[in-house]
Parts: sequence; structure tokens; C-alpha cells
Amino acid sequence: MKTALTVLGLALAVAVVELSCAGPAKTAAPPARPSIPYVATRNDTVQDMLWIANVGKDDVLYDLGSGDGRIVIAAVRDSDARRAVGIEIDPERIRESRKNAREAGVTDRVEFIEGDLFTSDFRQASVVTLFLGHRQNINLRSKMLRILKPGTRIVSHQFGMGEWQPDKAFTVRTAYLGMWGELWNPFSDNARVPDYSANESHFGTSDKILMWVVPPPVAGIWRGKVKTEQGLQDFQLILHQRLSKVTVRYQLSGKINLAGWAHVDLWGSHVRFWCKPDNRDYGRFELRFDGHVKGDTMKGTLAVIDHDRIDECEWKAQRGKADFTGTWEWPCASGPRLVKLRIERRDGQLIATYLDGDRTIPVTDFYDCGGGFYFTLLIGRQDDGASLRITEDTGWLIGEAVLDDGTLKGNIEFYPYSEMSGGRAEGKASRPVIQDWTPRLVKP
Ligand SMILES: C[S@@+](CC[C@H](N)C(=O)[O-])C[C@H]1O[C@@H](n2cnc3c(N)ncnc32)[C@H](O)[C@@H]1O
Repeated sequence: MKTALTVLGLALAVAVVELSCAGPAKTAAPPARPSIPYVATRNDTVQDMLWIANVGKDDVLYDLGSGDGRIVIAAVRDSDARRAVGIEIDPERIRESRKNAREAGVTDRVEFIEGDLFTSDFRQASVVTLFLGHRQNINLRSKMLRILKPGTRIVSHQFGMGEWQPDKAFTVRTAYLGMWGELWNPFSDNARVPDYSANESHFGTSDKILMWVVPPPVAGIWRGKVKTEQGLQDFQLILHQRLSKVTVRYQLSGKINLAGWAHVDLWGSHVRFWCKPDNRDYGRFELRFDGHVKGDTMKGTLAVIDHDRIDECEWKAQRGKADFTGTWEWPCASGPRLVKLRIERRDGQLIATYLDGDRTIPVTDFYDCGGGFYFTLLIGRQDDGASLRITEDTGWLIGEAVLDDGTLKGNIEFYPYSEMSGGRAEGKASRPVIQDWTPRLVKP
């Protein structure tokens, strides 16, 4: 895939920069020149970014690619953040930022680190700000979800996070944007793949400010007890997670036998769900929960609504341990052969690799969701990281599963590149394939 990022600078000088699609692993040594050009966020937009994240006295803000330091300085000067840190690769910008901080009288609460944002540690952040690019956001997001605490706010000026939908967004009219992505991208309006960019703004008269709240890993099987008129019943919830989006199937077993899908809302560690049975009349029996998740415990208030009676009580559920390391195999979507996903734990972190015959592709966009996982992989990317080799195997492979009694159960989706590029290719391989997924463990 060929990608170009056009920069509209202050003097309206236009520079075209080829973007590398390579993931963080390829940027271990600082690049000779920044892969993302310097264009400052307008000062009024800086205020909007701080406002949308509700930055206040308890916050530690990190601006990744901090330019002249304006977001870092404004965070402590105008929003009273406890501390703010800028990570910037260009030494000249670092000098300028330190001078600006001295002039603003905030040197005691800000820090500017010369370094590569893709390899830096910013786990102390409670707010992260970005003005980078779509591909860079996608390359960063699995690291952000791995190292940032649940509840941390991520604010991006203009660029989205693909299929990870923002929790808050607003559009601001502007004279010109300063930087805009001009992305030839056949998947840009497919909301299920990371190339999705329809929630960004690439036109000169409006500016997008987007915010996400880092979710905790909640996938898995949760068990608790529920008191009903028929006595204490076993309650099981199966949570499937794709970034902040969670779907829940539940079962209440015993004398009372109810099952169904629950509506669920996840906002940082705050969870709310509402269970309505599939097999009862609407409105007769409901469970409503409002609480928090911490590690393997979910705690809060559960309302049991049985006809006209409402009983509210403190409620708790526990998640069982799940180890889904191993090599998992399933039939490939684009050809008659078996493919595999190898999941290993190295230094406490899950590392996934896609195996197709003698092809071995690292899955850099992989999420450990506790009792399950989610991943996306663009198959067909060339070694240069920037271009695609189009074959019937090229496309986005997206998987999500929960470990249930030693078996992975979830969904696997394949979005062929040919389908999304205007239907040029015809036949079976050009249609998206969305399937239930129960891969077989072939090597523990
Ligand atoms: C579009 S500017 C945004 C500046 C600032 N955050 C703002 O909004 O005003 C992107 C900045 O990222 C810096 N940058 C590019 N690649 C980087 C990298 N790998 N690590 C750290 N900074 C980088 C550039 O030098 C540039 O200053």
C-alpha cells in the first residue's frame, strides 16, 4: 500500500513524505530524520485537546512527538496538570521547548526527553496526546493498551485509531489544518479494520479532536451468584473484547434457567451491563449491573428485576485464569490449507506470530484481553513495510477469542484487499469471510 502524507506548513509549502508502515519493532534505533513532520497544533486546538481530556491537577500528561512543547507547557500552565512530559526526536525542537518552558515559568513541572516515541516508556501518563498520523497511531495502539493504566485518556489531533472508535469526538472549524493525511486506502470506510479513517478529517476547513479511554482487559468467563425468588443461582458471563467494544453472553442456571445477550458499556474500568433473557417475555426479568473491574474481580451493584419487584445488592464476580499460549490451527479463509497462530509469553508479554506454510509474520497489533485476545494483521505487507504485494491472500485478518475450558471460541474475519479496491477481483476470495472461530490447539 502506498501512502503519502501531505503537509501544509505555515507558509503553505508542501512536502510529501513517504510513510513507513513498519511497526515499533523497526524503529529501535532513532530514524535519521523524523518519519512524522513538524507541524504545530494551533493554540486554540491545544486548549480543546486539554479540555476534552478534562486535564487537571492529578494528571501526568505525555505529548508523544512534542514539537515546540506547546501542549506540555499548556497542560501545566493552563490546566494545572501535576506534571507534563514531551518526547521529541528533533534536538532543535527540544532546545526550543526548554526555552519556551523557561519563558512560561514552568520548568519545575515539565520535562522534555529527546528520543523516539515508539521505543520510549510513557507508562506514567494519565493523559497521552498525539498529533502524528493514522498509521503511526495504529502502530502505537497495542503498546498504549499494554502499558497504560485503564482509564488513561488518549487524545489525538485529527487522526483516528482505525476500528477503535473514539469515546469522545468533536469537530472544530478551522482556517486550515496544518497537517492532513492523504491516504490512498481502499479500506478507509470499513469500520471493522484498522485502515478505517472515516472518523478523521482530511479537509482544510475542519479539525477533528478524538479521545479514547484505555479499557482494562475484561475478556473471559466471569462467575458469581445471584439471589432470586428461586434461591441462589449460578451466574456466568462470557465477555468478548475488541479494544473498548465488549459483547456479553450470560447464563443464569439452577432452578431458574435464563440465558441471553447483555448490553454492555465499558468506560475505563467502569462497567455497566443489562441482561434481558432470550427465553422470557420482555420486561419480566432483568439484571442490571453498575460497577468496576480490577484484575480478575468485578464488583458493584446488581439490581434483580423480577416482574414488579426490584432487589438491589452488592455483587461480585471472579474471572478464571486463562492461558492461551500455544500454537492454534484453523482452515485458511483464502485457500484450501491450514494456517496457525503461535502465542508465546516472553518477559511477561504475549507475542503472537501468524504461520502460513513457510511464511512467518509477526502479529504486532495483538491485545491480551485477560481471558481472551484480539488481533489484527495486514497480510501481504512487503519487507520495506510500506508496500503490499497483492495476491488472493492479501488483506486484513482479524481475530478475537475467549478461552473456554481449554478451547478458544470467537470469530475470525478476513477482508481481502481485492474486494475493497473497487471489486476489481472477482470470485470467492474477494468477499469478506466472517466465521465462528474454534482453532485447534496443535502445540501447547
Ligand atoms: C505534527 S508534529 C506535532 C507537534 C506537537 N505535538 C503539536 O501538536 O504541536 C509531530 C512531531 O513529532 C516529532 N517526531 C516525529 N517522529 C518522531 C519519533 N519517532 N519520536 C519522537 N518524535 C517524533 C516531529 O519532530 C514533530 O515535532
